[in-house]
Parts: sequence; structure tokens; C-alpha cells
Amino acid sequence: MSEQRPGSRGPRRGGGRPTGPRRREAADAARTAAADTLEAVATSDAYANLALPKLLRERGLTGRDAAFATELVYGTLRLRGRYDAILARCTNGRPLDQLDPPVLDLLRMGAHQILGMRVPSHAAVSQTVNLVRARVGTGASGFANAVLRAVGRQDLDTWLAQLREEIPDDGAYLAAVESHPAWVVRALRSSLRAADRPGAELAELLEADNTPPAVTLVARPGLVSTEELAEQVTQTLGERGTPGSWAPTALRLAGGDPASLPAVRDALAGVQDEGSQLVALALAAAETLPGPDGEQESRWLDLCAGPGGKSALLGAIAAEREVHLLANEVAPHRARLVRQSTAALRESVDVRTGDGREVGEAEPGVYDRVLVDAPCTGLGALRRRPESRWRRQPSDLPGLTSLQRELLGSALEAVRPGGVVAYVTCSPHLAETSAVVEDVLRGREDVTRLDAREALTVATGTEVPDLGEGPDVQLWPHLHGTDAMFLALLRKNA
Ligand SMILES: C[S@@+](CC[C@H](N)C(=O)[O-])C[C@H]1O[C@@H](n2cnc3c(N)ncnc32)[C@H](O)[C@@H]1O
Repeated sequence: MSEQRPGSRGPRRGGGRPTGPRRREAADAARTAAADTLEAVATSDAYANLALPKLLRERGLTGRDAAFATELVYGTLRLRGRYDAILARCTNGRPLDQLDPPVLDLLRMGAHQILGMRVPSHAAVSQTVNLVRARVGTGASGFANAVLRAVGRQDLDTWLAQLREEIPDDGAYLAAVESHPAWVVRALRSSLRAADRPGAELAELLEADNTPPAVTLVARPGLVSTEELAEQVTQTLGERGTPGSWAPTALRLAGGDPASLPAVRDALAGVQDEGSQLVALALAAAETLPGPDGEQESRWLDLCAGPGGKSALLGAIAAEREVHLLANEVAPHRARLVRQSTAALRESVDVRTGDGREVGEAEPGVYDRVLVDAPCTGLGALRRRPESRWRRQPSDLPGLTSLQRELLGSALEAVRPGGVVAYVTCSPHLAETSAVVEDVLRGREDVTRLDAREALTVATGTEVPDLGEGPDVQLWPHLHGTDAMFLALLRKNA
């Protein structure tokens, strides 16, 4: 049990280096912070990526203690399904759903230390048992001790081999070992199949979802160049960024806090997945046709803009082309975030709070380019939102897909003849992607579905591989190293 496993990037802890009372206290503080975060995620619908940094700041945890707490939280949440499959074989027949939820969360956290991090088993067991005793009670701590000792009797490979033997169905096995809900595995399998990807890629995709992505920055055109941004990264973070794989605006960081970069503080640059950059760049590169009056483009619209990453990129390009961007968002607090992201673009971007479903009727035929980055299940961004796969339910789909249809319908009214609408989701779920586009286009003769791959080639100056037959684009974490963004480009006939 000394090797670090996939999905665990945490520092070594608890053995192999001096440990005094102060270090142990710090380790305990990190575990307590992790346990508190898991509890907030479970009971108050908190987002780990927001709750944990706040808690670390409040408690003054930094450096390797902060890194340890972060790995504990993220790894435990990501690999919860895998640990549940293992824990279920260590409870002496007691079903996991009959356990006290806080006990189960602490058992998962203990299992992650034993099987997913390089924490020696005895330290992981005793520290977890202490937490259970303090937070739940003595009775539960004896049970936790017995369960975690059983977990530690085998290493991860042996556990995975046992699961392979005991779970003959491939989908159920992958759901367990790669820690995804079964319905998500089924949806991703269908999406890969629809994209003509080989069946064996499902395991690669699920594994990629469990691999924390590198932080990627966007250099907003006209505000800062990637070279200037790279220079700041070297000066401020003491490391060299690496260019993104395709987006000319992307710069990947090896580590460090992007918020400390002057360009990020001034909203000239931001943190943005390369897939998100690519879809915005493709909309800006898509071919529009001259409108009835043949005038220059003057107005772009981002229909669902919060928190504003794509608005800021589109707004920067709009400013270079002397075009105005209206960033519309229904939720006032998210509209505020759009204002922050576009703070450097006050001249060319307006932020408005409103329901995107009403824009088409209120402002028909007004905009040259419209982005509909629709609210969705987020199944394409599981790498960066460790708890979301457990929170989402298939029952979320009908509400989301009807909203997506309405928003796309509204965008197609708001765009002018010859203008282009980009329909985007950070989900590859077919019900949210091609099904929405096909439904909305059914019976309409006034829209042409463009080859989004071509727009991507124009935007990047290169051919992004593995995009299938088109016309839509589906990006994949395991193939492109991006979120699984979907893009359809629809042009209103002139
Ligand atoms: C996927 S997010 C957009 C992300 C954004 N494009 C970015 O890059 O930062 C979808 C957004 O749509 C907003 N939204 C939901 N329903 C809406 C509606 N009826 N009209 C406008 N925005 C809506 C949500 O509040 C959310 O901020």
C-alpha cells in the first residue's frame, strides 16, 4: 500500500517523515476541515470548490495541510461510488443505506486515505475512528474501526480484481470502479456510441472524469496576449505556462494560484476550460451572411451568460470588431458575476438581468450572433465538480431539456436573417444536445445547420482531431483534454 493511485494526487501523510505533536495537530485540523466540508456538501447542498477554500482560509490552513484537506474532500467525493462498492463488502452484511450518513461519509474519507492516498492504514483508521467518535459517538467508532480494518486488508488492485469477479455486468462494474452513477454511465455510453466512438472508450472517459484537470487560463484577445500572460505566470508564479492544445487564447498552468496574476485580477484574463474557449471562438469564427440591408455586424447576444466566462471572451472579440455584446442572465447574483468577468470591457459589453426565453419575442431579428450556453446537467464537467455526479438525477432532465428548447427557440427568433446561433452545453447527454437541436429545428425551413467543425478550424487555425462526422462538435475529456462541450451552429437563412 505504498503506491499512489489514479485519482489521488494528495501528498504523503502520516508516515515516512518526522511527525511531532504539531504536525499531527495540523493533520487532524486538515481532516476536520475535510469532514466539515463533506458534511456541508451532504446537508446544505454546498459546492466543495467554494466551501472548502472558505473554510481553509477561516482556519488558517495553508500549504501541504490545505493540499491534504483538498485531496481528502475531492478524492472522497469523486471516488465515492468505488469506495461504496468496497465498503459494502466490509460491513458484515449491513447495507450502506442503513448507516448514519455522517458515518458513511467518514468511512469513505477513511477508505480514500487507505486506498487512494499514501496514508498508512493504521494512521488512516485511527484518525477516522477519532473523527467518528468525536462527531457521532463511541458506538459508531467501534463499527468504523472494524470496517476500515477490513478495507485495509487488501490493496486497491486486489479490491478492483474482486469487484471485477463479483460484478459481471460491464456497465455496473465500470459504474462501481470508476465511481459514476449507473444512469450517467448509460448516458455517456449512448453519447459515445452516437459519436461513433469505440465502446472501449467508455472506461477512458470515466477515468478522465476522475482526473483533476489542469488549470487553464484564457487570454482575452485585445486585452492581454498569451505571451504577456505567460510572462506574468513566470514572474508571479515562478513557472512557465504551456499553450493550450488548440485554442490560441489558452495557457495551461502547472500549479499556483491564478488569482495572484495581475491580468486575472484586472479581468484581462480568467480561468476557463479550453473547451469553453473553443466553443466561444467557434461562434465568433462562424460565417454569417449579410443581412437584408447589408450592414456590418453590430450586436451580439449571450443569452444565458452567468457567471460570464464566455461573455468575457466573446466581449473581447466583439470589442476588437467594434461590435456590442449584450450579456443576459436570469439570476441577479450570477449577473453580478458577469459584470465582474467583463469589468475590463465596460465600453462594449452590457449586462442585463432577464429571462432569455423572452428575448426572441421582445427583440426579434436584432442580433448577428447569439450564444445559448444552456443550463444543463453538467455531465461534461464532472472533472471539476466532484459532487455533481451524485447530485444530478435523471429526473432533472425533463425540466432542463424543455428550458433548453425554449431558450434555443428564443435565440432563433432574436438572431437576424444571415446571423448565427451557437447552441452549447457542458453535457454530452443526447437528450440535451442533438435531441434539443433536432426538436427545435423540426418543421423549420428557415435555419441551416452549419458544420461546426469548420468554424473550429477557422477559429484555431488547425484541425481539432476526433470530431466525427459533424455537423455538430462534441468534445471529450479523454480525447481532447477539455470538458465534454457540445456545440451546434445554426444560421438563420437570409
Ligand atoms: C451553463 S451556464 C452559462 C455559463 C456561461 N456561459 C459562462 O461561460 O460562464 C447557464 C446559465 O443560464 C442561466 N439561466 C437559466 N435559466 C435562464 C433563463 N431562462 N434565461 C437566462 N439565463 C438563464 C443560469 O442561471 C446560468 O447562469
